[in-house]
Amino acid sequence: MKLIAGAGIFLMLGSAHAADLENGDDLHFEHCTGCHDSAVYTRASRNVQSLDRLGTQVRFCKNSLSLTWFDDEVDDVIAYLNQAYYHF
Ligand code: HEC
Repeated sequence: MKLIAGAGIFLMLGSAHAADLENGDDLHFEHCTGCHDSAVYTRASRNVQSLDRLGTQVRFCKNSLSLTWFDDEVDDVIAYLNQAYYHF
């Protein structure tokens, strides 16, 4: 019995690390639409050309806003932007 309960907790912790696209959407909507709209993500001359670069750019914009996000939250926004616009 103990073994099964332990496995359940392990699974819950595991899923907490998967990117939460809905949370990324919310965070993005709340904090990231003040300076640019989504057109910067889809324009032909967009700067971001890789998933790595997307992470760098999200952190750069986040830091310039002095937002204190957990890594998980940064990952959620990266995953959201990638799924909605970049498709790397
Ligand atoms: C203080 C203004 C400001 C805010 C708020 C802001 N950004 Fe930016 N962001 C910029 C500027 C300036 C650029 C560069 C635009 C350009 O190259 O024309 C940019 C570019 C980007 C790009 C790259 C677009 C491309 O060319 O591929 C991404 C991705 C991005 N921002 C994500 C975010 C995220 C995520 C947030 C919320 C944490 C955010 N931005 C909030 C100013 C801002």
